[in-house]
Amino acid sequence: MSIKKFMKKGVALALAVMLLGTAVGCGSSSTTTSEAPASTEQTTQEAKTEEAPAAPVDEKIVIGFSQIGAESGWRTAETESIKKTCEEDPMIELKFSDAQQKQENQIKAIRTFIAQGVDAIALAPVVESGWETVFTEAKDAGIPIILLDRMAAVDESLYTTFIGSDFIEEGRRAAQYVIDTFGPDAEVNIVELQGTVGASAATDRQKGFADAIKDYSGYKIIKSQSGDFTRAKGKEVMEAFLKSDGDKIDVLYAHNDDMALGAVQAIEEYGLQPGKDIIIVGVDGVKDAFQAIADGKYNCTVECNPNLGPQLVQAVKDLKAGKTLEKWIKSDEDVYFGQKAIDALPTRTY
Ligand code: AHR
Repeated sequence: MSIKKFMKKGVALALAVMLLGTAVGCGSSSTTTSEAPASTEQTTQEAKTEEAPAAPVDEKIVIGFSQIGAESGWRTAETESIKKTCEEDPMIELKFSDAQQKQENQIKAIRTFIAQGVDAIALAPVVESGWETVFTEAKDAGIPIILLDRMAAVDESLYTTFIGSDFIEEGRRAAQYVIDTFGPDAEVNIVELQGTVGASAATDRQKGFADAIKDYSGYKIIKSQSGDFTRAKGKEVMEAFLKSDGDKIDVLYAHNDDMALGAVQAIEEYGLQPGKDIIIVGVDGVKDAFQAIADGKYNCTVECNPNLGPQLVQAVKDLKAGKTLEKWIKSDEDVYFGQKAIDALPTRTY
């Protein structure tokens, strides 16, 4: 329930208490209530008891969550984490909206959440730009915006906190694996599958990787194109890379595992061995990537944690309790390759 609705309920409850108090105190002098705290307390308790059955439902904190869509295994895992955490918490009610990869749908969803008077709006923004107007509308309505997993390019005053990963660091970690594999003096031709154009996860993973290899003159990105974070598009773009540069490619760096797994299929169909002829590095840490490492077709996955449900719910509860949140609630993540990945496979949750 929204704070405004909560206040309206509170007024109604106070009126009920007053009326009940008048009835119980019928015949007493007008001073009785103010001079007798014990009986006033008792009257209040009686009134509360009568109102009690509705309270747990009314006190629920309502979160409106605008999700990007279901483009990858990672995204599905994030949705599940948020839905499950909210379902298991009796204090939370979740209003979920799937934007099907469209910013306009996310903007519509935010406006609906504002009209519904939710307590907080969580948003995984499909792209970084274009949020100022709608975030200002939420701010004017007194509803906090919590950015989840991807960033929005807005003034810090327009959102309350960002819960998610350091995508630049993820790009750096992917590059470090490649540098460690080939050595600093090697000549290495890299093809890159970018995520959704304009998404912070794509922009920052590209930047982190490029920054990390820039001091090694033999490391070159010979082709770079978006595969939209999907397996099908990753395969399609990799087919085109192979057609033009099949004999030159040493490394595939993909901004997520799904695109890299699509590319693995394309490489096999082309007649090369993924994981050997072409080194495969992805981001996310989905189970299928761990399996592909175990199968010898994939080399490294940089983890990006999608299990953000508990952090989101905690953040909303902290806000309700009047606490100030950190501007960036960071995820804890690792890099997996070789035996470490094979050992971790049975315990992967997504
Ligand atoms: O924003 C996180 C990215 O979005 C994940 O890496 C990718 O798989 C997803 O679709």
